[in-house]
Amino acid sequence: MEARMQLSQRTSRNRWVRLIAAVGLTWLLSALASVAQQSSSATSDEAAHQAFNNSCRTCHSVKEGDNRLGPNLNRIVGRKAGSLPNYNYSPAMKDAGFVWDKDRLARFIVKPDEVVSGNKMEPYGGISPDEAAKVVAYLQSTSGTQ
Ligand code: HEC
Repeated sequence: MEARMQLSQRTSRNRWVRLIAAVGLTWLLSALASVAQQSSSATSDEAAHQAFNNSCRTCHSVKEGDNRLGPNLNRIVGRKAGSLPNYNYSPAMKDAGFVWDKDRLARFIVKPDEVVSGNKMEPYGGISPDEAAKVVAYLQSTSGTQ
């Protein structure tokens, strides 16, 4: 590198060409890296949304006040379990006595009965921890707590 630098200093034209090439290359690499980063986070947002649509949307919406077979999941991260006034919860959910956080949600989605025994989230068979993590990421992104 030293030798190359000295060589290139002999003619200033040569030096400029190298400098411009180096700057150009650095710029190109960082532009490529940022494009790659953007597209991978877009894909994972999409995968998270898709996971929610696949497993939850039949019974749940994330819109405020939009209860279906299940209660709406608007801002569910940080919401008290069984606390919507206009939804008819099972006694088990109503008396669960905790606030939903990411960890509790992920466990509930994998095995509802282990978190709130006697809940009426039926017929729901549970999903893999991987899928559950995606669903929780989606719910969190709609909860405004990121
Ligand atoms: C077959 C319909 C159905 C499906 C599918 C379903 N749920 Fe439910 N969910 C319900 C019902 C019904 C309740 C009310 C349970 C109760 O009162 O015991 C509920 C309750 C909940 C609650 C408690 C809400 C609160 O206000 O405390 C959460 C959180 C939840 N579901 C998340 C999910 C997620 C996330 C998915 C997808 C992975 C999902 N559910 C899939 C029907 C469903």
